[in-house]
Amino acid sequence: MPEARLAGWRTRIDAALAQALDSADVPAPLDAAMRHAVLLGGKRMRPLLTLATASMFADEQPAVPAAVAVELVHAYSLVHDDLPAMDDDALRRGQPTVHVAFDEATAVLAGDALQALAFDVLAAADLAPERIVALVATLARAAGGAGMCGGQALDLAATGRSAATSLAGLERLHALKTGALIRACVRMGALSVGADGSALDALDRYATALGLAFQVRDDLLDVEGDSAQLGKTAGKDAAQDKATFPALLGLDASRERLAALRVDMDAALERFGSRADALRELARLAVERTA
Ligand code: IPE
Ligand code: IPE
Ligand code: MG
Ligand code: MG
Ligand code: MG
Repeated sequence: MPEARLAGWRTRIDAALAQALDSADVPAPLDAAMRHAVLLGGKRMRPLLTLATASMFADEQPAVPAAVAVELVHAYSLVHDDLPAMDDDALRRGQPTVHVAFDEATAVLAGDALQALAFDVLAAADLAPERIVALVATLARAAGGAGMCGGQALDLAATGRSAATSLAGLERLHALKTGALIRACVRMGALSVGADGSALDALDRYATALGLAFQVRDDLLDVEGDSAQLGKTAGKDAAQDKATFPALLGLDASRERLAALRVDMDAALERFGSRADALRELARLAVERTA
């Protein structure tokens, strides 16, 4: 049952995240801000992708540091995404955002420290040195200017100008701001256990489709969901004239695109048979999720 495996992994991820924060030895109130950002909810989609991918090839335990690292980078990205200088959000994971619960300077520092902690966790992993280097390089590229940060910059540049954004431009924006880290999650799961190159290519096709699907669903939920259900403020994208799939294509075409991406994901996973059932379940969750 993929659901039961995912639930077990979620418990392991939460424990490993708490342990990483415990061992980080951070002074208050920065420590409290980092814990607020990481430990209070979240679907844990990214670390689940890492463990689910690793489990296709071997016992997934060696991928736990990579799973922790990707969630720490994700949590940092949310703290900064919510800052007044970016999306200016007050609600995240059903809680006040970090800059509201603490203050802006603490939120900036909490994000910085979470990102550094992610690489610290990788550096300390009980893995062969060349695997650690490959993991560090993969995460650094996905998080940096050619990945998530670059995508966030494109997002901000397109904000208030959705009508001037092309579909190709939007797809690039989404591929960088969300897709890059999701691809890294899958790749790092495979790298942690030494999967071979041809498997990596197929997994990357899956992860590329998943990254876009995840953000298209996020864009749809901002229109269709409500704040209580989402744990974040609904309707903000239209209010800020964000470049999103519903803004550019409308709801129906966005839903159709999501369904097509699900087909792409299933096709990429076909060669793996039942070994990929956990990744299929994560694809289903990404496309059908309501929060
Ligand atoms: C939200 O990510 C930001 C996006 C890239 C769309 P999630 O929807 O995975 O947020 P959490 O981790 O579950 O809170
Ligand atoms: C965030 O995209 C992507 C990140 C890299 C954090 P959004 O701005 O759409 O995410 P939400 O809707 O605030 O979670
Ligand atoms: Mg944003
Ligand atoms: Mg946002
Ligand atoms: Mg959003």
